[in-house]
Amino acid sequence: MRLFIAINFNEATRAELISLRDELQSKAASGRFSASENLHLTLVFLGECDARQTAGAKAAIDAVNFGPLTVTIDRIGRFRRDGGAIWWAGVRENKQLLNLHGELTDKLTAAGFQLEKRAYSPHITLGREVVTNEQPREIEPFSETVSSIEFMKSEHIRGKLTYTVIHAKFI
Ligand code: 2AM
Repeated sequence: MRLFIAINFNEATRAELISLRDELQSKAASGRFSASENLHLTLVFLGECDARQTAGAKAAIDAVNFGPLTVTIDRIGRFRRDGGAIWWAGVRENKQLLNLHGELTDKLTAAGFQLEKRAYSPHITLGREVVTNEQPREIEPFSETVSSIEFMKSEHIRGKLTYTVIHAKFI
């Protein structure tokens, strides 16, 4: 199974993200835009896991000792790629979020996972392979206080990218 750990937002935050995605989509010449139900903030990407690894990751998630944290989304940005950019909503610098990410990666590493060494750059993907004349920009910030993290499965079901929550941990 292809797995990751994420923050899934409440309806109000999701509505804000949907409106950012819609605006980007309306101004773009082309792109593959995130489905409304797929908008999320990845904390850790695990990739392919077997049953034993999945159980190990679940135990690591459950061992996280954290409290609720406030996430603020304050800009639109992009990662340039050949064939069009990845466009995303960006999270304001947030020590607590970095600490949560650090605690998760420490526990997963101790459980034997070899995680990506890339610096964590918290973002919510709005679209991929986006071709547009738009420029990255700051937006009117919006925030949510988050009190759970979710273990997610990613798969294609009848050609559609589908994310399913397989476990939730309250923080
Ligand atoms: P992305 O939106 O920037 O692609 C499920 O694929 C989630 O894990 C997505 O949020 C994705 O980020 C993230 N992710 C992080 N590293 C990844 C990788 N190496 N391959 C695929 N997805 C990755």
